[in-house]
Amino acid sequence: MSSIPRRYHITTFGCQMNKADSERMAGILENMGFQFSEDPNQADLILYNTCSIRDNAEHKVYSYLGRQAKRKLQHPNLTLIVAGCVAQQEGEALLRRVPELDMVMGPQHANRLEDLLEQVFAGNQVVATEAVHIMEDITKPRRESQVTAWVNVIYGCNERCTYCIVPSVRGIEQSRTPEAIRAEMEELGRQGYKEVTLLGQNIDAYGRDLPGTTPEGRHLHTLTDLLYFVHDVPGIERIRFATSHPRYFTERLIRACQELPKLCEHFHIPFQSGDNDILKAMARGYTQEKYRRIIDMIRHYMPDASISADAIVGFPGETEEQFENTLKLLEEISFDMLNTAAYSPRPGTPAAVWENQLSEEVKSDRLQRLNHLVSIKAAERSQRYLGRIEEVLVEEQNAKDPTQVMGRTRGNRLTFFTGDINQLKGQLVQVKITESRAFSLSGEAISVPQPALV
Ligand code: SAH
Ligand code: SF4
Ligand code: F3S
Repeated sequence: MSSIPRRYHITTFGCQMNKADSERMAGILENMGFQFSEDPNQADLILYNTCSIRDNAEHKVYSYLGRQAKRKLQHPNLTLIVAGCVAQQEGEALLRRVPELDMVMGPQHANRLEDLLEQVFAGNQVVATEAVHIMEDITKPRRESQVTAWVNVIYGCNERCTYCIVPSVRGIEQSRTPEAIRAEMEELGRQGYKEVTLLGQNIDAYGRDLPGTTPEGRHLHTLTDLLYFVHDVPGIERIRFATSHPRYFTERLIRACQELPKLCEHFHIPFQSGDNDILKAMARGYTQEKYRRIIDMIRHYMPDASISADAIVGFPGETEEQFENTLKLLEEISFDMLNTAAYSPRPGTPAAVWENQLSEEVKSDRLQRLNHLVSIKAAERSQRYLGRIEEVLVEEQNAKDPTQVMGRTRGNRLTFFTGDINQLKGQLVQVKITESRAFSLSGEAISVPQPALV
């Protein structure tokens, strides 16, 4: 083997789960002696960590892949890998479509990358998509940020929303133990990380698959119990979690967030539609009334909490009136942020084969109308910060203005203010908010923190 270090490149599509997996796979590759290359064309190993939540996400991968498959004709030593959700969805079919591929690996195999690569380097074309018990990984992830980090708490999803590919590509729910989660957070605290986001597709399901019940018959391990178990990890100043499912959201959880000082006042609870018949067709397991009750309960305990969600427009059969119920819910609840998408039929999901599909024109018209209202509402919500003093955790320099730094409030609003990133990175700064926009704020630091201990 040559003494020139081998270089790897990873491009990540999709959600935070995929980003967290990519960081772990990057850690494994670096442990094996690979060095990161920003430019895929300089890399000896290229890994696409893919997303198949919507058709356009899936298509992007094929165009990237096509280019590298061509490059492989000139550079036969190039190792090409497709990981993530498209890999899981397509499996062997992907090898037939792109024969230049060396490996197709599903998300449950991310921690096994080293073993799988050994098979590739031994000359095999590898398909790793069978359901497995996800092992605790022992390699340190290579994390993008030095301030905020993701920590998986539950993999997979046991729901069966009729539009969604996730359960078939991510497998059944598998919770990590509270001890493993706490140990990862303690390590992060020691390394100087300040904020942790606990991750799960349906994080309220945490612990259902772990053994043990309380004397009252409750699961011994719930998300709420986990929060109490990890909230005092030294060094970690802020804790967030996502994504919450309205079906399982509890008052106990809100009370824990109110009680535990490190828990940030932000909830991400997708509602998907404001119409009960559509919610039923989606198999979401709640009504819009129940959703509103959850929001009322949050606002009862934590009046200032910021609330974000996801919504889909143009689900099969959605009438104009049903769509307007989604607008109405947004109007009345006033979300701080809403991720929106036009319904995209996914292979193997029930709704994909229903006959009442809507045209692309109707879907994109509704998406535009919804997005318009999203910005209006977000701008209204931002205004409440004007003149207030907010705690901002500084993450990076403002890419557009190097005299400024960028961070987030506890409510998760991006905030910019004048300052030196070398001094402020990773610091919690009190910032007086002087300007508000729909999705971000600007302000002035009112306390200059202690120099960072480097
Ligand atoms: N587990 C989370 C969401 C995971 S997927 C939940 O249950 O809320 C992230 C978002 O993608 C979803 O909230 C949904 O709004 C969107 N999404 C999922 N499948 C989709 C599809 N087929 N078409 C359009 N959007 C979709
Ligand atoms: Fe998909 Fe529903 Fe599971 Fe969320 S809860 S990942 S939308 S199936
Ligand atoms: Fe996409 Fe898979 Fe996440 S489909 S949204 S990367 S779970």
